[in-house]
Amino acid sequence: MKKVKVFAPASIANMGCGFDIIGFTLDEVGDVLEMSVEDGDGIEITNDTPVPLPIDVEKNVITPVVRKFLDIMDRKALVKVHILQKIYPGSGIGSSSASSAAAAYGMNALFGYPLSDEELVECAMDGENLASGGYHADNAAPAVMGGIVLIRGYEPLDLIKLPVPGNFYCAVIHPKIVVSTKQAREILPKEVPLHDAIRQWGNVGGLVAGLYSGDISLVGRAMKDVVAEPYRKQFIPGFDELREKLLGAGALAMNIAGSGPSVFALADRFGVASRLGKIMKDHFSSRGIDFESFVVKVSNNGAKVLEED
Ligand code: HSE
Repeated sequence: MKKVKVFAPASIANMGCGFDIIGFTLDEVGDVLEMSVEDGDGIEITNDTPVPLPIDVEKNVITPVVRKFLDIMDRKALVKVHILQKIYPGSGIGSSSASSAAAAYGMNALFGYPLSDEELVECAMDGENLASGGYHADNAAPAVMGGIVLIRGYEPLDLIKLPVPGNFYCAVIHPKIVVSTKQAREILPKEVPLHDAIRQWGNVGGLVAGLYSGDISLVGRAMKDVVAEPYRKQFIPGFDELREKLLGAGALAMNIAGSGPSVFALADRFGVASRLGKIMKDHFSSRGIDFESFVVKVSNNGAKVLEED
């Protein structure tokens, strides 16, 4: 029997204009799994965290990830997974992707690293699909690879790691209101008017250029989403007012984290990000909405093995 303890980080999808194609990882926050393989066939999952998770393995995102990995490898095995640390589901920072990425990375470590990043992300996307009913990789790819990842194409997967500015801090708040990813995707129109498409691809180009040239203010002004956010912001009480307050207080950008209801703001100093976090908390407190919040550095680290036997 072989055993590994593996970590995968929290992540934020879309990064403003990059709907379904850009996401980035956060420092310190993430999931930890202990995984082992032995002869046999099947999967057992135990949850050693206080976070409530489905008992039925068929409903846990880890299961399709493990199955996809074994399918690609054309192998059978009895896989045992202990969940040791878990991001709260629905927190908007890629909870299902962190589990999926950790499971894919852990399987790869147990089998001697046979699969590429693209194949691991494909495995992780099966977990994402179980959670949200959609095949998107903008949380799963950064959770596997770390940093800011661009999904240049899905068929086949073409993943590009973008440079992470050294001084990039993120304030995130999760207001305790329910917005399912499924609902937030269904509300989007299926067609994008040409003038919106032009603005969006101008911004995506600007964002990538800003990251490569280290022009943080270009990054900030390029992080505008005219495709999804205008339809989704109705789910977040006082969204426009909050954005104005945050931009006025020095945020480079403020957007919905993935499909919401969490929102995030970026800053080039920790002190500014902390101030943004306080403004977010005041905003939701004054509306009687409970929340959890974080202020963390944008990280360059993806899934990793913490211990192995
Ligand atoms: N890109 C996805 C969306 C992320 O915005 O629907 C979901 O977390």
